[in-house]
Amino acid sequence: MKGIVLAGGSGTRLYPVTRGISKQLLPVYDKPMVYYPLSVLMLAGIREILLVSTPLDLPLFKRLLGDGSDFGLSLSYAEQARPEGLPQALSIGREFLAGSPVCLILGDNIFYGQDLTALLRKNRDLAGGATLFAYHVTTPERYGVVELNPAGEVLSLEEKPDKPRSHLAVTGLYFFGPDAPDEADRLKPGRRGELEILDLARRYWERGELRLERFGRGTAWFDTGTHLGLLDAANFIHAVQSRQGLQIGCLEEIAYRQGWIDQPRLEYLAGKMENSTYGKYLLSLTES
Ligand code: G1P
Repeated sequence: MKGIVLAGGSGTRLYPVTRGISKQLLPVYDKPMVYYPLSVLMLAGIREILLVSTPLDLPLFKRLLGDGSDFGLSLSYAEQARPEGLPQALSIGREFLAGSPVCLILGDNIFYGQDLTALLRKNRDLAGGATLFAYHVTTPERYGVVELNPAGEVLSLEEKPDKPRSHLAVTGLYFFGPDAPDEADRLKPGRRGELEILDLARRYWERGELRLERFGRGTAWFDTGTHLGLLDAANFIHAVQSRQGLQIGCLEEIAYRQGWIDQPRLEYLAGKMENSTYGKYLLSLTES
């Protein structure tokens, strides 16, 4: 299983004040936004990751994350020349994927919760088909929406419907089998003039190969599509981190705990940031 993070140009549309700089480079509380989706892939045990972004921002992501070795990862990069929809990331990733199943995550989605790792690992082991993850929200019209029957089977999938048929949003986390680039290539633009990820999911649904997982009430999901959403996410991260003294989305910690980087490496990385709370936290991990 390989991973793709799409850190595309949506920031351009939503945050014109950043003058086109992808919002995924901006911090959510104490670390760059893209750390959070990367941490999700890492918790799933995925180490080979492709980051897809705009030609403008790709050099900045490279500067931020390098070849991934600080986090025990193998990171590659690819340009999305024009933001023509989420499924495009799978076509762009064709060579990188080389026939492997993929976990695709959007660079502005933040997940936190007890059942997250188990759900991820369960789906990581599936070789084909597709998996969507649904989450109960107050404003489903802002998202892809899935309607389920009492048995939990999918009845409908709609992208940002005016009249949502349920409160279940489809989150920006997807698993697809090895045929994902081929299926993505066959899509036609939808109502918004771009390729839609739910149209891709629908193809799997129509042939009975779509699974749906529901995140329970104990999981937090944020997307940072509005200023308030961004603030809520930052406040949440702050509240949990300061209460527990444990970091959310700390890539070096995850790599260390999974045995992907050793203690001397962690000490070296912490040393480079020793005057910050983040660096001090990393140092404390080597002492416990
Ligand atoms: C995208 C997807 C949508 C999904 C959302 C999650 O929306 O198209 O189905 O619910 O991400 O963040 P967009 O961010 O392009 O508005």
